[in-house]
Amino acid sequence: MKLPGKQIIIFFSLCMAGLLGVHFTHTQNNNTVPFNQPPSFPAPLYTVKGNQLSAQKIELGRYLFYDPLLSANNTISCAGCHQSFAAFAHIDHALSHGINNTIGLRNVPALQNLAWKDAWMWDGSITNLDQQPITPITHPGEMGETMLNVVSKLNNNIQYRSMFATAFSDSTVTAPRILESIKEFMLVLVSADSRYDRYMAGKETFTPAETNGLALFRKNCASCHKEPLFTDNSYSNNGLALDSSLNDKGRFVVTGKAADMYHFKVPSLRNIQFTMPYMHDGRFTRLKQVMDHYSNITSSRINTDERLHRMSRMEENEKKDLIAFLLTLTDTAFLSNSRFADPNEVR
Ligand code: HEC
Ligand code: HEC
Repeated sequence: MKLPGKQIIIFFSLCMAGLLGVHFTHTQNNNTVPFNQPPSFPAPLYTVKGNQLSAQKIELGRYLFYDPLLSANNTISCAGCHQSFAAFAHIDHALSHGINNTIGLRNVPALQNLAWKDAWMWDGSITNLDQQPITPITHPGEMGETMLNVVSKLNNNIQYRSMFATAFSDSTVTAPRILESIKEFMLVLVSADSRYDRYMAGKETFTPAETNGLALFRKNCASCHKEPLFTDNSYSNNGLALDSSLNDKGRFVVTGKAADMYHFKVPSLRNIQFTMPYMHDGRFTRLKQVMDHYSNITSSRINTDERLHRMSRMEENEKKDLIAFLLTLTDTAFLSNSRFADPNEVR
């Protein structure tokens, strides 16, 4: 890990403090940044205190997000599964790959607009974003580490102590501070500047194919993939054939209700061009396969949402137009934002 330039002085002070065995404190010098609330979005479901975040905590959270130190054998970071150029999904694998190459049960979802949810994961099993990072850090199939070890590793790391001193009132690394920082980093991952957004704001025009695609989308898809977030945050069954080897029961695992069997959270379609593979088990790699699926709901699978049975078959040119529209949800500025990238590589 390289040090941010402005912290070099603090770093040397800390080295001295460390040598002298002094507990280091320094005046908190936090720059607040307003939470990014796009005007076209509804109010977030997650309440950001005072609508303010801290620039220093966000930056610390970013270092933590990219640091494999958070895993048991220092090999896998959050970003190892959540890749910035894929809207923080993972493009290589259908199912997530964790520590020692353990294969997970689900496809890695994108991380974007997380404050507009009140439950996270494909089955909504996480309802507290503040505590969320504990799950991947301690999960034996993800990072396989204990919070105690993470705290201890970071406390022994002079560079992190310096960053904690900058972000908090003193240099002590604690679990709540780690969680707070990672959460603040995740809260800035707001994607609201796609061509679709600019079209809706009257700043962009659509091609005839894209315009037709939007109309088809509103007719067939928007009841679940609701604009402008492209999800209504509900759980449903979109008619996929059962994957017998995984037999993932989805929302049922959380609620135990028969009606929730094989229901999964409606994923946002923002940046869908780069979040392949698709669906909770990553079974489709191309949008064309998704169109073919929705155009051919013959499955007798239980609990398939009735709206899908009412959907008329799409012609091949309609599928093309719908895909053309979905590509307008790509937010290039979000995907290539250097402030979200690995701080060890980009500054
Ligand atoms: C081994 C791969 C892997 C690692 C490492 C990993 N994740 Fe994930 N992440 C996943 C998978 C898979 C899911 C979906 C799990 C599910 O639905 O059951 C997920 C889901 C999430 C979600 C929910 C997104 C949503 O919109 O519902 C958040 C937030 C998240 N991860 C943050 C993190 C953070 C923070 C870290 C590091 C502390 C991390 N992840 C490390 C694979 C990983
Ligand atoms: C009844 C609600 C519903 C309707 C209508 C619907 N979807 Fe979905 N969609 C879902 C659910 C639920 C999932 C996740 C299913 C899973 O993984 O098991 C999903 C997943 C997807 C995915 C994969 C996203 C990802 O990140 O993996 C795409 C793409 C998609 N839908 C596009 C569409 C399009 C295009 C339409 C219209 C033709 C449509 N959907 C209509 C509920 C719906």
